[in-house]
Amino acid sequence: MTGFSVQVNASKKMALLLLFVSLLALHVFLCTSQSQSNPHSKNAAFQVGVLLDLDSPTGGIGLSYLKMALSDFYALHSNYTTRLALHVEDPKGRVIDSAALAVRKDPTIPAAIIRLYFHDCFVRGCDASVLLKTTSSKNPSEQDSVANKGLRGLDVIEKVKAKVEAECPGTVSCADILAFATRDSTYKAGGIYYNITSGRRDGTVSLESEVTQFLPPPFLDVPPMLQFFTNKSMSVIEMTALSGAHSIGLSQCSTFSVDLDDVTPYRLDNQYHRNLKRNMGVLTSDQVLASSPLTADIMKKYIDNPEVWVKDFAEAMVHLGNLDVLTGTKGEIRNKCGTVN
Ligand code: HEM
Repeated sequence: MTGFSVQVNASKKMALLLLFVSLLALHVFLCTSQSQSNPHSKNAAFQVGVLLDLDSPTGGIGLSYLKMALSDFYALHSNYTTRLALHVEDPKGRVIDSAALAVRKDPTIPAAIIRLYFHDCFVRGCDASVLLKTTSSKNPSEQDSVANKGLRGLDVIEKVKAKVEAECPGTVSCADILAFATRDSTYKAGGIYYNITSGRRDGTVSLESEVTQFLPPPFLDVPPMLQFFTNKSMSVIEMTALSGAHSIGLSQCSTFSVDLDDVTPYRLDNQYHRNLKRNMGVLTSDQVLASSPLTADIMKKYIDNPEVWVKDFAEAMVHLGNLDVLTGTKGEIRNKCGTVN
């Protein structure tokens, strides 16, 4: 089961507004879930992540209000079979907090961060090499590659890094910040949560010339596209599951941009796979997944069983974040994500 998350921060006004929105969301959710509920099933748990600043008075009150509202609701509507399981977390100014702030301002940021993670991890491993800026025109960095056109969210990671450095200098790598911001973006956009470990260190090399060897272009058929994934020891299931990331985000031309999934553009869900079945794919490399004998059955499974896609997607994201990581004395902890120390 997936869930949604609610953030209440120290600002009283914002906290109350978000509380109101969350209660409204709960109400809508509960109303819809009743109409869809199976009369033979016992109470079904719907996992909900709640981010609260528990040290602030409004955070504490917010949690009590949420719990009271839920128990009142269930008391009044005993026929509802769905039960919300609240998972409360206090971000305590950690990465999640900063990333969440950016997401509140721009709902397309999770997509930007998730794409950055993929483009980082497939080239030289998850070492934040994609974040390094070109310092000499003779030696362009990965960012200048045609495959990295339209990358967004680099400024968000740099801001999070500045915040982390101010609290705890020289300790958290940009590679870890990107990995955790991606985990949090996945949760924000899709209610999909997975655990990852920390300890990635930052690389010191970033070469434009290497990128297209590792990142597939958007016009390939399935077999050549799969080769890019098997080169990274990833399976056809992982490739198909990860492609579901295109259920959020944008494809940009010089003059305009289109939503990759225009049905639920900000929601990370299996709508992307549904769109492909109706020939609504924006990228050729996506549309071919629906017809190729290598991937069509996997796609059908994801359309019929969204929870299977969620599980496969989460597992593949964990695998992605472990690709060729630098540990021990390899690499460094950058001071700023855009430049080596
Ligand atoms: C299978 C091969 C893949 C190809 C050929 C591909 C290609 C593309 C292209 C062409 C775009 C549009 C970029 C633009 O116009 O600015 C895009 C966007 C995106 N891709 Fe992929 N991609 C692939 C796999 C993945 C994977 C594995 C992930 C994540 C796990 C991912 C996540 C995203 C996201 C989230 C966006 C939207 C970015 C934004 O809104 O800024 N892609 N991809």
